[in-house]
Amino acid sequence: MTAAQHLRLGVNIDHVATIRNARGGLHPDPVRAARLAVAAGADGITAHLREDRRHIRDDDMARLKAEIDKPLNFEMAATDDMIAIALRTRPHAACLVPERRAERTTEGGLDVAGQRGLIEAAVRALGSAGIRVSLFIAADPKQIEAARAVGAPVIEIHTGAWCEALIEGKDQAAAQEFDRIRKGAALAKSLGLEVHAGHGLDYAAAQTISALPEIVELNIGHFLIGEAVFVGLDNAIRTMRAAMDRGRRDAKAA
Ligand code: PXP
Repeated sequence: MTAAQHLRLGVNIDHVATIRNARGGLHPDPVRAARLAVAAGADGITAHLREDRRHIRDDDMARLKAEIDKPLNFEMAATDDMIAIALRTRPHAACLVPERRAERTTEGGLDVAGQRGLIEAAVRALGSAGIRVSLFIAADPKQIEAARAVGAPVIEIHTGAWCEALIEGKDQAAAQEFDRIRKGAALAKSLGLEVHAGHGLDYAAAQTISALPEIVELNIGHFLIGEAVFVGLDNAIRTMRAAMDRGRRDAKAA
């Protein structure tokens, strides 16, 4: 096993904007949540500017870039419009995600293997502006190899199917999904890719996946914003950080 690197926590603040947009107006402000997340220990802020602008809006993204002093991870579809906005915003990183059904593989995630030309052009356009590009893909060897082939430096493994199986108590399916993630992370690292993971993670799932030494960043949103209703955002993020640290420490000790 390779030595485990520091495991970064990227906090996704999209659903603060979802709540704001439910009533219009300015409250709650996702940029204020981002500031609080950084103070609570987030290593970066993730926000998804969707084509339908259902949560984060263009001015949120601009303010996040201007007002937050930690890396901004701009989640986006690989469209010309989004690439133009990302090039203007100059985030630290951009994570290319599927937004339309046609772009989804059966396992979820971006179908890089099926649309290499499009993804390669997006990776090149963003990468040449100094933006670190990650591709949100299933832990499928075909997609991981395609990510490498199109020149992406980073992949983010889609953990949604695993987390769903965990929540539904489908132990066998969960074990199979976790095995896929474990092998996918190892394959990606062996190909020279940096490995992130996210989608659907709660405290328990984050602790478990933190044991995988190849993974260097988790991006977590929905659960943290939901927990914040009960315990506050600061508390939820600190508890998540502790769960991740426990997962890494226990794995090292094993
Ligand atoms: N990573 C990516 C690429 C995503 O699209 C999302 C959801 O926006 C997340 C991580 C976070 O997922 P969740 O909100 O379920 O924690």
